[in-house]
Amino acid sequence: MSEQRHEGHEHFVLGTELLWAFGVGVLVAATIGMIVFTALTRNINPPSNVERIDPKTLHLSGEFAEQNLGTLVSADGAVTARIVATQFMFVPHCLALPLGRLVTLRFASPDVVHGILITGTNVNTMVVPGYVAQVHTEFTHSGDLLMPCHEYCGLGHSEMWANIQVLSAAEFKPDRDGRVTCAQR
Ligand code: CUA
Repeated sequence: MSEQRHEGHEHFVLGTELLWAFGVGVLVAATIGMIVFTALTRNINPPSNVERIDPKTLHLSGEFAEQNLGTLVSADGAVTARIVATQFMFVPHCLALPLGRLVTLRFASPDVVHGILITGTNVNTMVVPGYVAQVHTEFTHSGDLLMPCHEYCGLGHSEMWANIQVLSAAEFKPDRDGRVTCAQR
């Protein structure tokens, strides 16, 4: 009799365990499904670029020296924008970028951790001192977008933001050096 009751209990335990396993399995599958879905349809991925840079000297020479900041169209037509995120501003404060073309954004910080996003796009990354934060995007609407710092970085954090001007092919005109700066409006 007690043997039978024991068996019944085992059965009950097994049943609830399988039920929980099934529930957790559904949750895990839904989470992975969501990640894959947004990666494939909205191009939302975790930033995967690992590239070191010395935060103490990045402003002195190399790609993040002041004269190299902003939007550059290279000879092969690739569009790259370089931005320094520092307490409490972005340099440059405004970026001109083209509509409907693949754009590479590269950020570096000489001081503390900042975060950036561009409203209404898939651009969202941390900017960690010591590393280059790189993201790719393609703008689907022309007009002005806000790029605020979204990681608390000190007392001036709320003042830290930049403007993105998304320009049509007619407006997006590189100069002789391949530079494009914001249109004065
Ligand atoms: Cu930079 Cu908040």
